[in-house]
Amino acid sequence: MNRKLEQFILENTTPEDPILEDLFRQTHIRFVNPNMSTGHIQGKLLEFISMMIKPVNILEIGTFTGYSAICLSKGLQDGGKLITIELNDELADFARSYFVRAGAGSKIIQMNGKAQEIIPGLDLMFDLAFIDGDKREYCEYFRAVYEKVRPGGFILADNVLWGGQAMEMQTTDPQAKGIIEFNEMIRTHENIDKLIIPVRDGLTLIMKKA
Ligand SMILES: C[S@@+](CC[C@H](N)C(=O)[O-])C[C@H]1O[C@@H](n2cnc3c(N)ncnc32)[C@H](O)[C@@H]1O
Repeated sequence: MNRKLEQFILENTTPEDPILEDLFRQTHIRFVNPNMSTGHIQGKLLEFISMMIKPVNILEIGTFTGYSAICLSKGLQDGGKLITIELNDELADFARSYFVRAGAGSKIIQMNGKAQEIIPGLDLMFDLAFIDGDKREYCEYFRAVYEKVRPGGFILADNVLWGGQAMEMQTTDPQAKGIIEFNEMIRTHENIDKLIIPVRDGLTLIMKKA
């Protein structure tokens, strides 16, 4: 997106929540690969999607420092929960401090480990799931998540354009290959509706049919 267009969009969008602004800044100061964090525009989109669905239960794969979890939690119904799974246990305390500051401390449950191993054991059905872990594992995540999302429920998958490499079928990059394999799985899956939104690095919206 060119800078003029980006500036226009920012000027015509609700300003970033100061807690999220601080979380984004601290993520960039303290952590490696800070560009993994969701930012303001995509975060606002996640918040809107969640507010439109009004989920009781949300599942997230890939907490990182917690930006997307906070955005998604804003649409939860009273008493609703967001379960977020993260492989790297060094991130948990930092993310938790922001969940508490955002007033979502009691709504967001953090789990540590490999999402594809944890999800089959969850005794819950979800209205909304967000896939944002290791790109090489997206197909595994989708298979696990699909079983736990109710018919009529939604699955979102981030980075599905992978900087344009999603269209480079001959790529040898393992993460791009993971995304290409995932996109093909979604394209040919018969029991879902799907739409790619070209926001940031591409977000696929998926609805599980009855
Ligand atoms: C792109 S970041 C997530 C960004 C986060 N959703 C946000 O908006 O700030 C991906 C995260 O997934 C985690 N991850 C990688 N493989 C995983 C797995 N198998 N299960 C759970 N988390 C995983 C990584 O450690 C990393 O923190």
